[in-house]
Amino acid sequence: MTQAVYPVRAQFAQRARIDRAEYERLYAQSVAQPDTFWGAVAQRLEWMTPPTQVKDTSFALADFRIRWYADGELNASVNCLDRHLAARGDKTALIFEPDDPAQPAQRISYRELHARVCQLANAMRQLGVRKGDRVTIYLPMIPEAAIAMLACARIGAIHMVVFGGFSAHSIADRVADCGSKLIITADQGLRGGKPVALKANVDAALKLPGTNSVETVLVVRHTHAAVDMQMPRDRWYDAVVDSQPTQCEPERMNAEDPLFILYTSGSTGKPKGVLHTTGGYLVYVSYTHEAVFDLREDDVYWCTADVGWITGHSYIVYGPLANGATALMFEGVPNYPDVSRFWQVIDKHAVTIFYTAPTAIRALMREGDEPVQRTSRKSLRLLGTVGEPINPEAWRWYHEVVGDARCPIVDTWWQTETGGILIAPLPGATDLKPGSATRPVFGVLPALVDASGQVLEGEAEGNLVLLDSWPGQMRTVYGDHQRFIDTYFKTYPGTYFTGDGCRRDSDGDYWITGRVDDVINVSGHRIGTAEVESALVSHPKVAEAAVVGFPHDLKGQGIYAYVTLIAGEAPSDELRAELVRHVRAEIGPIATPDHLQWAPGLPKTRSGKIMRRILRKIAEAGSSQLAPDRLGDTSTLADPSVVDALVKERLAK
Ligand code: PRX
Repeated sequence: MTQAVYPVRAQFAQRARIDRAEYERLYAQSVAQPDTFWGAVAQRLEWMTPPTQVKDTSFALADFRIRWYADGELNASVNCLDRHLAARGDKTALIFEPDDPAQPAQRISYRELHARVCQLANAMRQLGVRKGDRVTIYLPMIPEAAIAMLACARIGAIHMVVFGGFSAHSIADRVADCGSKLIITADQGLRGGKPVALKANVDAALKLPGTNSVETVLVVRHTHAAVDMQMPRDRWYDAVVDSQPTQCEPERMNAEDPLFILYTSGSTGKPKGVLHTTGGYLVYVSYTHEAVFDLREDDVYWCTADVGWITGHSYIVYGPLANGATALMFEGVPNYPDVSRFWQVIDKHAVTIFYTAPTAIRALMREGDEPVQRTSRKSLRLLGTVGEPINPEAWRWYHEVVGDARCPIVDTWWQTETGGILIAPLPGATDLKPGSATRPVFGVLPALVDASGQVLEGEAEGNLVLLDSWPGQMRTVYGDHQRFIDTYFKTYPGTYFTGDGCRRDSDGDYWITGRVDDVINVSGHRIGTAEVESALVSHPKVAEAAVVGFPHDLKGQGIYAYVTLIAGEAPSDELRAELVRHVRAEIGPIATPDHLQWAPGLPKTRSGKIMRRILRKIAEAGSSQLAPDRLGDTSTLADPSVVDALVKERLAK
C-alpha cells in the first residue's frame, strides 16, 4: 500500500522540545529503565512527600498489581493551582467562550481560579463531604466544571463527572453505583442556543431507585431559568460558595488514592466505573500534554472535548493546568451560530494548539472551504485529533485547509482506561501519515496478537495489547476489581487488551482499525451494544433486540438496531419512533439508533447465541452485497430462513 508521508517540518523541529534523536533516546530509556525514567519525570510535580518507589506493577494474573509512586504524597489541585501562583498568578488559566458569541468571554487567572476552587472546597467540607466521598458533577462546559473537579481533588473527594448528554436514568445508574453524596449541577446548559434541562434531569434521576445516598444538590445559576428547588436538599451554588474563604488547606493524598471515577461503556453489561488514582495519573497527563503538544509557555491551547469525557479530564483540566498552560473551554457547538464558529474562536483568542475529534472535522469539511478561509487562523501552530480513526481525506483537509499546510497534526490514540495518550506522533520528532497514530509515547509497549494470543512481529495486523504498565493506567473498576481483571487481563494473559484492532506497517507505525469487541464508536463516543439492547428490551412491546455498528460518513459508526416485537404487536412507524425516544430516555441522545429494523426473528446458533457477524453484514451492506453467498457461513444457524427475511426487509427500504 502506498502511503503519503509528511516529514517533520524543519522549522517546527528546530524549536520543538523533542526532536527525533531525543525521542529515540528517551523512548529507549523509558522501556529499558522505567524506574529511572519515570522517577525523573515525576519531579515535574510538587510532592508533599516525594516518592522513593516508582514502578511496582505486574500484569501476571498470579501476581497482579499496578502501583506507581506508592509511597509519595501530593494533592492534584495544589499541582494545578498553588504551585503556579508565584510565577504565573496573573497568567490566564482558563478562557471561557460561551455558547452565544454575543456574550462576553471570560479570562480566569491562576490566582482567581485558585480562590474559586478553595471557596467551593470549603463549601463542600461544610456540607459534610470528606476524603474518599464521591461527588457527582453534571455541568455544562462552564468554568465551574473545572472548578468542581479541582475542589474535589483539594479535599480528597472522588469526582464522578456525568456528560450533560446523558439522561436521568444514566445519572441514576452512575450515582447508585458509586453512592455519591453530593451532586453539582446547573439550572440549564446551553448548546447551539438550545437549553439543556440539567437540573430537571437531576430531579428525575433522584426519583429513581438507588439514589438515596445523595444529600445535597448544588445548583449553579447559569441561564437563570426557573427550576424547582427542593429544600433543604437543593442549594444555590452562589449562596453557599461566594461567602467562603479563598484559602483552603489541601488534603494530603497518597499517590495511589483515587482521584476520580468516570463511567465508560464496554462490550457487556452496564458501564464500568473506571477509577484513576492521583500520582501516576497526574505525572502521566502532564508529561504527555507537554510532549505530544510540544507545549510552550505562551501557548493558547484549545481542546474541544467535553469535560464529561476522559479527554476533557486529562487534556482540558489536569494536564494543561498541571503544566501552567492557558486552556480554552468552549460551551457551544461547531455549527452555531454558523459553521465558521471554531475558526472564529481560534482567531478571537489567538489559539495556537487545537485538538478536536475526526467527526467534527468531517462535518465541517462537508461545509466546504469558504467558512474556514474567511478566518485567519494565523495563530495556529499545531493540530490534534482524538477519539476515532481519522480517514485520510479528512486528515488532508484538516492539514491543508484548517492548518494552511503549516501545522503538524498529532493523531492521538488512547482510551478512558489509559488515562492519557499512548500512541501519537511527537510533532518535532515523527513523520506523519494521514490515518496513522504512528508511534508509542514514552514507556508504552504496544504489541499485536492474533486470535490465539500469538505475538505478531514486523508488518502485521491483529489485536492491540500493551505489554507493560504506564503511570496513567486505570487501577480498577469501582467496586468490582474482578471485572477489571476479567475485562482487560484475561483475554491475552500477561497483557492489557485494548479492545482495538490495529495494523503495524513496514516502518513500524501503528494504524488503529477500530474496536474488535461489541463497543460502537459513534462520533468518538463509546456506546456498548449491550446497553442499547437492554434499553430496547426494557420497553414492554419488545421481545428481543440486537444492536450492531455500521459505517457512517459523519459519525464514523452509526447504531443499527434489530427489534423483535412481542407476539401480537404490529410494527409501525409510530412504534419505531417511540422506541427511539425510549432509548434516548434510557441512555441519552448520544445513543439514538440511526436505523431500527423490524426482525421477525434473529439469526442464532443452535445454542442460542446471536450471530452478530451476520447482522453487521446486513447493516453494513449496500444491496449488491446482500447476496446470500456474501454473508459468510450461515450453516451453524438454527433457522437460516431468518436471515432471508432480514435481508428482504433491508432491501425493501
Ligand atoms: O477505539 C479506540 C478509539 O476510541 C476508543 C476509546 O474510547 P474512549 O475511552 O471513549 O476514549 C476516547 C478518547 C481518548 C479506543 O479504544 N480511539 C481513540 N482515539 C483514537 C481511536 N481510534 C483511532 N484513532 C485514535 N486516535
